[in-house]
Amino acid sequence: MFTLSEISLLQFRNYNQAAFHFTENVVGICGLNGSGKTNLLDAIYYLSFSRSYHSRSDAQNVAHGKEGFRIEGVYRLMNNEERVTCIVRETLKKERIVNGELCKKLSSQIGKLPVVMIAPDDISLITGGGEERRKWLDTLLSQLDGNYLQSLIAYQRTLTQRNSLLKQLQETGLTDATLLQVLNEQLCTHGNQIFTTRQAFLADFLPRITNIYFQIANREDRLQIRYESNLLQHSFASLLVETQNRDILLARTTRGPHRDDLIFTMGKELFKQEASQGQRKSLLFALKLAEWEVLEENKGIPPILLLDDLFEKLDSERMNQLLHRVCIAGRSQVFITDTHAERLEAQLLKLGVRYQLLTI
Ligand SMILES: Nc1ncnc2c1ncn2[C@@H]1O[C@H](COP(=O)(O)OP(=O)(O)OP(=O)(O)O)[C@@H](O)[C@H]1O
Ligand SMILES: [Mg+2]
Repeated sequence: MFTLSEISLLQFRNYNQAAFHFTENVVGICGLNGSGKTNLLDAIYYLSFSRSYHSRSDAQNVAHGKEGFRIEGVYRLMNNEERVTCIVRETLKKERIVNGELCKKLSSQIGKLPVVMIAPDDISLITGGGEERRKWLDTLLSQLDGNYLQSLIAYQRTLTQRNSLLKQLQETGLTDATLLQVLNEQLCTHGNQIFTTRQAFLADFLPRITNIYFQIANREDRLQIRYESNLLQHSFASLLVETQNRDILLARTTRGPHRDDLIFTMGKELFKQEASQGQRKSLLFALKLAEWEVLEENKGIPPILLLDDLFEKLDSERMNQLLHRVCIAGRSQVFITDTHAERLEAQLLKLGVRYQLLTI
């Protein structure tokens, strides 16, 4: 078993100071709109990733009028206890302490405490642009493969350098071919690494998503998912040479794995344009369940599942199916929020397992 047994928050969002003890595998969290349910789930997410699921910058996570924040949690894994503390200092410098030891490298900790969040805005994974899907895929792959995360960081850094060189070249009209060539080579090394990892992973992962979709939705839906990348048809090196003049003109790198996408279709149409609300929700759940499953297989521990406002998304029948699969069959700890205490309690009772209901 892998569970979070307590968490304490200091100056994190609307929590000035608060502590929660979790005594069961299924934890219901009720409270009115604005009471801090989403913030509490985000704090749990933060403990795993040293970053928020929702806000881009730590400045937004600090309680208004305060400086810095701190989140501390205690995990149980088999018979071991692990105490994790995330501190964001007044300067917004991040620290992470595991069992009293300061972690030297935050990125080396990614994936050690697996969690999967399903939040209301996640539907943008289906309806939004490619950036959303890449971020989701990258976050998942980074938890599975530390080298992938390092390639990603290096790629992003090189891409930024290349783009600023392109801008200089565009403005001055000069062509510093040597520096561009060096950056091209570096970009290719990291980019090819990213591409081959994505391609190998998706070969198994995409059919997994469609299978889960067909289990929870209509088998007749003609859902297909395809990995789209410039690198499927051409080598990255040749693409960079081919597009060099255009890249200089536009002052940005127009081809590469930073443009990859997952394309969902239904028959001949794009899924997001064709599918009903319910079908979109089913696809979102299939994506998240597939994520939960690969993390579980890869880590050997069931990821903690954070379900934010799920009742707005799912009918009671599907909700029950999902909870059964993950918290009963999968033995995962589940946190689930709702504004209606009675509705949540009724759902938890239906599951027939022990649960804890917190009101905040
Ligand atoms: N940095 C911050 N400092 C202080 N308060 C904040 C900060 N960021 C957000 N809040 C407040 O936290 C409150 C709670 O937000 P949260 O999203 O957790 O509520 P919720 O219980 O999930 O509500 P809902 O049921 O509407 O989803 C918001 O009303 C917001 O004003
Ligand atoms: Mg909320």
